[in-house]
Amino acid sequence: ASNQMWGGRFASGPAAIMEAINASIGFDKKLYAQDIRGSLAHSAMLAQTGIISAADQEKIAHGLNTILQEIEAGKFVFSNKLEDIHMNIEARLAELIGPAAGRLHTARSRNDQVAVDFRLWVKDELFRVAEALKGLIAAFLERAEEHAATVMPGFTHMQAAQPVTFGHHCLAYVEMFSRDLSRVRDAIERMDESPLGAAALAGTGFAIDRHMTAKALGFREPTRNSLDSVSDRDFALEFLSIAAISATHLSRLAEEIVIWSTPQFGFVRLSDSFSTGSSIMPQKKNPDAAELVRAKTGRINGHLVALLTVMKGLPLTYSKDMQEDKEAVFDAAETLDLALAAMTGMVRDLAVNVGAMKKAAGAGYSTATDLADWLVRTLSLPFREAHHVTGRAVALAESRKVGLEKLSLAELQSIHPGITDGVFSVLSVQSSVKSRTSFGGTAPAEVRKQIRYWKKRLAKA
Ligand code: ARG
Repeated sequence: ASNQMWGGRFASGPAAIMEAINASIGFDKKLYAQDIRGSLAHSAMLAQTGIISAADQEKIAHGLNTILQEIEAGKFVFSNKLEDIHMNIEARLAELIGPAAGRLHTARSRNDQVAVDFRLWVKDELFRVAEALKGLIAAFLERAEEHAATVMPGFTHMQAAQPVTFGHHCLAYVEMFSRDLSRVRDAIERMDESPLGAAALAGTGFAIDRHMTAKALGFREPTRNSLDSVSDRDFALEFLSIAAISATHLSRLAEEIVIWSTPQFGFVRLSDSFSTGSSIMPQKKNPDAAELVRAKTGRINGHLVALLTVMKGLPLTYSKDMQEDKEAVFDAAETLDLALAAMTGMVRDLAVNVGAMKKAAGAGYSTATDLADWLVRTLSLPFREAHHVTGRAVALAESRKVGLEKLSLAELQSIHPGITDGVFSVLSVQSSVKSRTSFGGTAPAEVRKQIRYWKKRLAKA
């Protein structure tokens, strides 16, 4: 038999393979609530504008609400033959209310229908992501406050560079996830237009009211071009790129947690709830959650590239290629939600080994820059000369196998006669971090200032 929705000009039904490649109901049933919301708004508008009768609209609305309940109660029978969520719902509506169901699709196409459903879904998901990001940022602010003065090594090239504080390091992630949050906000703002009423591609001759449906669905306004309305998937691409950037931040953090929790570093210990053991090596505690966050980022990045690749060759307007947008977005969303939740838990539960961090902070001549700065400030040496003098001090300390602060004054004076006792006050890791008071620097006082700033901003967000 031919398809009951579009089979008018077809003599026979599709081949089984055709049905299998064409059907999207397996994944787009996720859009059921948005689809019903869209249809309720559309039918209310059709009645309001006199395009359908109030009696038909009442039947339609009642039928749609029944379907919503059926789906949520798990009683709805989805059919592959009916391709997608839109036709599954419409066919059931016809069963429930008869011919009035056939009037719902007046002045509408599946092209604007799917565009509006999917936008509603992505918009909702972005609100969820915003909440999750806020939770993660709050967890980091708490850890930053606790460890505003906890000294750890700061790295470049993964080599110890200068001492920093763990609080400052936490705030670096606050900055990253706050940018992600602002990207979420921007994207919501941009996608806040309703494509409903663009119909197949050209608009419609019926006197519909697109402003009314836009408002009913919580959009700022209707989209301004019917061709773009049915062929635009920027909102999905933006969601995926936000997800990819945010996941990339999560992945870098995951990588740091993996490194920091090795016995060799020992900076942090993961809670039992976020690690696993080995089935053969009894001593092991593995950072599986962090590793999986790191790995799942690859999956999210893949979805972004996949949809960019689907879209890049499509002429205006709708092509069935675009049906491939959904699995990418759904899986990226599910993966990102999970990664954000797991990371928030890990950050909250992380046990910080202050002693190990401090010990490592002093290794590798990490206060050499402080010595050079002291030479500039106290002896008025040009920085380049101070750099050279300090290099010789490091070489001497290295040959003695001691830290810079363990060189005697006589040894230091053998490198530069102007050096005095005062130099020792800048060679400790604590005095090093304390001195970095420039705006955005690692000094505990500055870190506390930035925490106050972010707490205020987050309260307003
Ligand atoms: N299932 C389709 C999709 O996800 C709905 C739109 C179908 N439109 C069409 N003209 N075939 O894209």
